Amino acid sequence: MLPRIFQAEDGKDFFFKLQSRFFISSLMKCFLPFVLLASGALFFGSRYFDSPQIAIEPSSSLFLPCVNKEPSVLDRWVKPPSSLMHNMSDEELFWAASFVPQVKKYPFHRVPKVAFMFLTTGPLPLSPLWEKFFKGNEGLYSIYVHSLPSYKANFPPESVFYKRQIPSQVTEWGNISLCDAEKRLLANALLDLSNEWFILLSETCIPLYNFSIIYTYLKGSNHSFVESFDDPSPHARGRYNPEMAPLIDISQWRKGSQWFEVDRTVATHMVQDTMYYLAFKVFCKPPCYVDEHYFPTLLHIETSSLIANRTITLTDWSRGGSHPATFGEADISEEFFKRILDGQECLYNGKNSSICLLFARKFAPSALQPLLHLASTVLGFT
Ligand SMILES: *[C@@H]1O[C@H](CO)[C@@H](O)[C@H](O)[C@H]1NC(C)=O
Ligand SMILES: *[C@@H]1O[C@H](CO)[C@@H](O)[C@H](O)[C@H]1NC(C)=O
Ligand SMILES: *[C@@H]1O[C@H](CO)[C@@H](O)[C@H](O)[C@H]1NC(C)=O
Ligand SMILES: *[C@@H]1O[C@H](CO)[C@@H](O)[C@H](O)[C@H]1NC(C)=O
Ligand SMILES: *[C@@H]1O[C@H](CO)[C@@H](O)[C@H](O)[C@H]1NC(C)=O
Ligand SMILES: *[C@@H]1O[C@H](CO)[C@@H](O)[C@H](O)[C@H]1NC(C)=O
Repeated sequence: MLPRIFQAEDGKDFFFKLQSRFFISSLMKCFLPFVLLASGALFFGSRYFDSPQIAIEPSSSLFLPCVNKEPSVLDRWVKPPSSLMHNMSDEELFWAASFVPQVKKYPFHRVPKVAFMFLTTGPLPLSPLWEKFFKGNEGLYSIYVHSLPSYKANFPPESVFYKRQIPSQVTEWGNISLCDAEKRLLANALLDLSNEWFILLSETCIPLYNFSIIYTYLKGSNHSFVESFDDPSPHARGRYNPEMAPLIDISQWRKGSQWFEVDRTVATHMVQDTMYYLAFKVFCKPPCYVDEHYFPTLLHIETSSLIANRTITLTDWSRGGSHPATFGEADISEEFFKRILDGQECLYNGKNSSICLLFARKFAPSALQPLLHLASTVLGFT
């Protein structure tokens, strides 16, 4: 999973690995960079080889022509893991996912991708709609699915969901394990350096526009879309536990939808936090629902200038009760989408926009056929 140089216990190991590779390729033109690197090692001392930046940069540029049968050293940093399956614990995974390059310019051609992260219990009944959505946009997206560990996905090799399942654990509604699963999705997706935007979805979600509109919208936005608001009612501030002070003051307490879209910077904040996480784990128990407060509060405190404070995922609460409406076959029509899409208004990069919601939930499996039928006329799929 991690680049091999991480496994080197000290500079000597690392040095030995480079050396053996050098002899295998056995080309005289490698000799000069080898000497340069070797003298560098002697000069700086082996502890510098602990630092990925120093070790990688000279070797990738100098050794590249010599080892063209093997992937370049830089490739091992840039290429996503070939398999999503791994045995890292959450602690190990979150650590590995929290690396952020300090040099902001990527030294290779990077096409930013959108990570679509599906938090599900089992099957994805709307997958045919998503297959249609992704078609023709290869290289611009990646998919991650977290489901109950007991569920075994069975997608054919030609499916976009084939082998996109990540190592998962049991999650329960209203429990911190739900936030763990979200962090697990983010962390697995962060391991692919090309992923720039991260969207949390469920098996009942659908896209409201075609891929190119959604991609352009995310790419052009100066903010991440996380709903985060303050509300004096018992359902918001009423769930604050004064024991959280002084770490979290009531004035910092926020509520918001679980369904978010964040960029790489914000995603890293979410994965690396342990301090606020602990406070929520201990002090936010039903009727405090951790998935409605943890990220909205954390990101309000740590990254308030980076978030738009609104979600891009529509949920219909108009029917009342503690669960949102579910739409089935009978609900789906052109009129239905007109009602959703027309007359939207929100701020996008500080300006009024009529595109505010990019995804919607909750849709029952029975909605699939009418959705496929309307996909090209109403949702702009081609
Ligand atoms: C993962 O597997 C490796 C080798 O198979 C083992 O050494 C390591 O302890 C495992 N890690 C976890 C977290 O299970
Ligand atoms: C979350 O689930 C775990 C394991 O089932 C349980 O021990 C814990 O009390 C639950 N926490 C809350 C807040 O319900
Ligand atoms: C979101 O709210 C925070 C604090 O309440 C504010 O600083 C920030 O500017 C808001 N974001 C946008 C895009 O308006
Ligand atoms: C978005 O942010 C960039 C960089 O900070 C800035 O140059 C640009 O003007 C911003 N765009 C809008 C529409 O606010
Ligand atoms: C943006 O929307 C607000 C609220 O509807 C309105 O008051 C304002 O005039 C609009 N601004 C522009 C530039 O259209
Ligand atoms: C996406 O939808 C928009 C609006 O419906 C349309 O103009 C555009 O051609 C569509 N793009 C693709 C690639 O289908």
